[in-house]
Amino acid sequence: MKDKFLLSPNVTFLNHGSFGACPKTVFEKYQHWQKELERQPVQFMAEDVYTHLKTARDSLGEFVGCEGDDLFFVPNPTTAGNTVINSLGLKPGDEILTTDHEYGALIRAWEAYCTMSGTRLIQHDIPLPVTTHDKFTEHFWDGVTDRTKVIFISQVTSPTALIFPVHEICQRARERDILTIVDGAHVPGQIPLNISEMDPDVYIAACHKWLCAPKGSSFLYVRKSFQTKINPLVVSWGSDGADPSGSPFLLENQWQGTRDMSAFLTVPAAIEFQQKNNWDELTVRCRHLVRETRECLDEYFTLNHLCPNTEEWLGQMASVELPIREPEKFKSALMKEHSIEVPVFLWKDKMFLRYSFNVYNSQQDAEWLVYALRKLV
Ligand SMILES: Cc1ncc(COP(=O)(O)O)c(C=O)c1O
Repeated sequence: MKDKFLLSPNVTFLNHGSFGACPKTVFEKYQHWQKELERQPVQFMAEDVYTHLKTARDSLGEFVGCEGDDLFFVPNPTTAGNTVINSLGLKPGDEILTTDHEYGALIRAWEAYCTMSGTRLIQHDIPLPVTTHDKFTEHFWDGVTDRTKVIFISQVTSPTALIFPVHEICQRARERDILTIVDGAHVPGQIPLNISEMDPDVYIAACHKWLCAPKGSSFLYVRKSFQTKINPLVVSWGSDGADPSGSPFLLENQWQGTRDMSAFLTVPAAIEFQQKNNWDELTVRCRHLVRETRECLDEYFTLNHLCPNTEEWLGQMASVELPIREPEKFKSALMKEHSIEVPVFLWKDKMFLRYSFNVYNSQQDAEWLVYALRKLV
């Protein structure tokens, strides 16, 4: 499969998690949209783009289990997160409950909001290793108080690469009238997703990571009953513009001034690419390889595990704690000496390496990582 991607053949690429990787044919479709725009810019931007956006939203909606008109495209999950956070209108003293495994940029966005609004962000500590979904949910729920108005939680965490049982949490939150915002940046294309079944109030995700769409394609889903509360981050023409979508939610948020929407329009091509290439079957091998590699690393290092080595907690990536001191130096040595691209970072005073496997990786790539780690550690 590596030939189908634009990735350099000289690099063992084990970091799909950061920015994804785009297949050649999907990238060609992206360029096709850019050329279409430049052929007749006025016709495209003033009229055609809305029809194409509708097709793209519907295709994505079908893939993630929601109506296409309940989501709009944004360039990245940070934009989606900031849009929601700045629409909340919470009162001083209200609490936002989250975990200590969340993505740093969004934590900063929450902190900025809390300072401005007099609300409190509670980063509930998740004891490691996690064990069962029930224990996780019970422990997380201990953080809920009478002041909790919002729950913000990742479905797949960034530093620790864990799959959190967010379905149960969304259900409980609905019973208590607590708003749920799920960060699914790593979900579409990595683990099955049905937003309607999960029933969060808000779901944010990237299409350029595991769905392999071009960079700058992400989305914000909002449950119908909450859509009128969402204020656009960039106020533009809204209902005075050319968007024929009809719903105020789309009118206010979809058009944000002139910009290149080609990455959004390419999302159906990315979905089609995965379906045509039997993604579900191919990625079973990747998930096995993730767990086998952890077992293999266990033979050489005494690992402090973050979770049981099961499909319940791990998808196509895993984070392992390493006995090293300088993450930047270690990461460059992996690249310089072994041509391996993989993130190595400090998290909670410990050093972690987060490896990912996708369809373009082979068993040899996994063995090469283990060999390199043995040599360098
Ligand atoms: C869990 C999670 N949420 C949000 C983001 C934000 O993505 P971006 O920086 O592209 O907005 C990331 C990025 O990797 C992430 O891992």
